[in-house]
Amino acid sequence: MYPKLIIDLKKLEHNTRLIVSKYDFPIMGVTKAFCAIPEVVEAMIKGGIGYIADSRVENLMKIKTTLPKVLLRLPMISQLDLVVSEVDMVLVSELETIVKMNDSAVKINKVMKIILMFDLGDLREGIWYKNDKSFVKDILKLTNIDLFGIGANLTCFGGIIPTDKHTEMLKNIKDELTSMGADIRMVSGGNSSSLHLKNFGVINNLRVGEAILLARETAFAKSIVEMYDDCFVLEAEVVEAGIKPSLPIGDVGVDAFGNVPSFIDRGPIERAILAIGKQDLHIDSIVFDGKVLGASSDHLMIEGKYKVGDIVRFKLGYGGLLSTATSPYVKKEVRGWLTFIQKLDA
Ligand SMILES: Cc1ncc(COP(=O)(O)O)c(C=O)c1O
Repeated sequence: MYPKLIIDLKKLEHNTRLIVSKYDFPIMGVTKAFCAIPEVVEAMIKGGIGYIADSRVENLMKIKTTLPKVLLRLPMISQLDLVVSEVDMVLVSELETIVKMNDSAVKINKVMKIILMFDLGDLREGIWYKNDKSFVKDILKLTNIDLFGIGANLTCFGGIIPTDKHTEMLKNIKDELTSMGADIRMVSGGNSSSLHLKNFGVINNLRVGEAILLARETAFAKSIVEMYDDCFVLEAEVVEAGIKPSLPIGDVGVDAFGNVPSFIDRGPIERAILAIGKQDLHIDSIVFDGKVLGASSDHLMIEGKYKVGDIVRFKLGYGGLLSTATSPYVKKEVRGWLTFIQKLDA
């Protein structure tokens, strides 16, 4: 059955081991891009990650492990009871949330570890680094909250590339919080965009997803040698093939998504329609030798000579992986070094 996302567990284990071996501190393996499929998480665990990290508590709940589970997205106040019962460590930035998290933790007699996030300029989550930090004293008074560490996330919203300057900023923040009495044991310095740093200074943790999954660091989008970029492969089936004009015939209005399409007349071309579309796949995020002509919600048009029933294979970029892993219409199949094949219910 197609479309199908094929996941090679051994390649993923290899990639994980390679990243883990480069650092003398524990790596959080980020599992959200593949919706934390348990078999795939297992491969990352075998590769040596120290923590399982995901942005969604639903994903963390699927995983049976003795490793600590970390929630990456700032928790919603409405889900704090669930988060506190299911997760070991949470990234947070709002005092109000932390106070309410303490209430939830008191109810089940648990001490929650938190990583206080600081925004160093990327303008996504975190306390603005210049702001007054005296509220930390209020956190330290909470009975069931353990301020375990601080963290920062870059290259996500503002596209800011981590540098030594950011490491220095984290050191200053750590020193300031320590002077208030905090025992900061973890400085979670960044994601796959921090791998190029030569000197990690106070940083003693990274949260890594894309680099492990797709063999690419994300500060400069460079491939990482000796790692596999085809741990995830998408297969889709041709449902129509043949020659058609390259220029639509008739008056042009809008396409299925309300955009006015534009075409160049290249005469008749060989083309095929695949049974996958924008509902399942971020079409700008596929890696493929041929040419993509476009897509509607359920159909992907590609150029080339194919016949009905052919299976076309794609490597994926981050958006391609995220969308196909999330789509219930894309079947998932895990393979271990091609020695066994296991089908998962999508
Ligand atoms: C807070 C946080 N840390 C780390 C990551 C992992 O990022 P990457 O996949 O670029 O390594 C993400 C995103 O998935 C995130 O939101």
